[in-house]
Amino acid sequence: MIQIRDFNKHENENVTVQGWVTNKRSSKGLEFIILRDGTGFAQCVVSEEVVATKVFADAKLTTQETSVKLSGKIVKDERQIGGYELQINDIEIISIAESYPISNKEHGVEFLMDKRHLWLRSKRQWAIMQIRNKIIFSIHKFFQQEGFVQADAPIFTGNAVEGTTTLFSTEFYGEDAYLSQSGQLYGEAMAMALGKIYTFGPTFRAEKSKTRRHLSEFWMIEPEMAFYDLDMDMDLIEQFIKFVTNEINETCKAELEIIERDTTIFSKIVEQKFPRLTYDHAVKILKGEEKVNGKTTIETLEADLAEVKANIEALNKEIAEKEVAIEAGVSKGQRNFMQNKIDTLKNDIKDLEVKAKNIPEWLQSAKDFTYGTDFGGSDETVITRMFDVPVMVYNWPHEIKAFYMKRDAGSPHLAKGVDVLAPEGYGEIVGGGERETDLNLLIEKINEHKLPMSAFEWYLDLRRFGSVPHAGFGLGLERMVAWICKLPHIRETIPFPRMYGRLLP
Ligand code: 4AD
Ligand code: MG
Repeated sequence: MIQIRDFNKHENENVTVQGWVTNKRSSKGLEFIILRDGTGFAQCVVSEEVVATKVFADAKLTTQETSVKLSGKIVKDERQIGGYELQINDIEIISIAESYPISNKEHGVEFLMDKRHLWLRSKRQWAIMQIRNKIIFSIHKFFQQEGFVQADAPIFTGNAVEGTTTLFSTEFYGEDAYLSQSGQLYGEAMAMALGKIYTFGPTFRAEKSKTRRHLSEFWMIEPEMAFYDLDMDMDLIEQFIKFVTNEINETCKAELEIIERDTTIFSKIVEQKFPRLTYDHAVKILKGEEKVNGKTTIETLEADLAEVKANIEALNKEIAEKEVAIEAGVSKGQRNFMQNKIDTLKNDIKDLEVKAKNIPEWLQSAKDFTYGTDFGGSDETVITRMFDVPVMVYNWPHEIKAFYMKRDAGSPHLAKGVDVLAPEGYGEIVGGGERETDLNLLIEKINEHKLPMSAFEWYLDLRRFGSVPHAGFGLGLERMVAWICKLPHIRETIPFPRMYGRLLP
């Protein structure tokens, strides 16, 4: 038995593969089966002239998602996905699939989400999960190479980390408990024991709103380093993002092609330095008071809007032309092909129309932004639109950041936190910074945030016994996957998303 990803090692050999029929097409005396086996997709062809009558009849019997064992010869064929084709000489049906709910036509996303357990089998979802896996692998590779120890934080916790409004509460043998929002505080304790650590675990936030960036359950990678300050933290973040981006660019070429990811940005990210902006500077850029590469955000967005409008017009024209052609009379095959294309174009227009509606709203909210508040999703989009690579925003007003952030000695109204905003409109993928080491300032902050002191006594011990400067950050895995794959929504980045209104499947 061999796997599709190894077809290239078995050219002209007779082999057996097992998998599922993902697509099928018949032509005179030939059945074309696209087989998927988890490792890839391959065209397999069976010819009535060549095989036994029963074999051809069985091939005809297979339906979409029927599981089969196919035997045949692997031949090189550049035109095929993967570059090889299997010429079938025998088939064994394992299980005939009932009428499959997901076809090759367009489905609504809510329908697909309800069928997530099956949707995962589709080529695009398969490619995204492969990329997710490679991202996870390269994250471990980076930290292990850099001498970090993976150390796990608990999931049942007795305290909030990132504010009390997004806590999921539960019960732990009769005691109030919460699902972890972040492993950071435990990460700090483990860094004092092990030097440089990273956690890699599920985290939970009750976000009662449906956005394209928020999950209720997501995976976070949280490195924490003893004897690090904010600058060292930012250096590490930049090195880390460059490493992961480069690994994906090099090792996921086929998958990136399947999802039609434009990869030109990846080499820029690996080569260019990430801009580091103070919060004050970022606010000026956002409000259009300062230019980036000779342009303000307002000029850039206005140009974007004009382009979107021109694109909508061009697509409408293309649809009209196709409709005229269909009207004039074409073959059935051509008509189906054109109708499919029209449906795709109409969907593209819908996306563009959303953009055309959003851009003026983003512009307005950027102009109205109040200094001292946190950036909203659209503010992040406006700022990152100005750059080709991730941007780091640091030195934030301390009131809008978590209780544990170190105050800037020179400007005590600022906290030494950093957010990394991904380009192409993605926004925050990393939040981190230097940690407060002053015991009294921390106690003051815990009180100010109305957090229960008793739950933080252990954390304060870290400042009582050999306190050292330290820093860290948290990367949201799904935000990284969404951006690397350039997905419109975070729900496709994880096999079974948990978000407001979605607990099944
Ligand atoms: O910015 P956040 O809240 O920072 C922390 O949790 C720190 N304790 C991290 C640290 O310094 N160790 O979250 C970190 C990252 C965000 O930048 C984002 O990528 C992701 O976690 N994230 C979410 N991802 C998906 N859905 C949500 N609801 C998320 N909330 C945060
Ligand atoms: Mg954050």
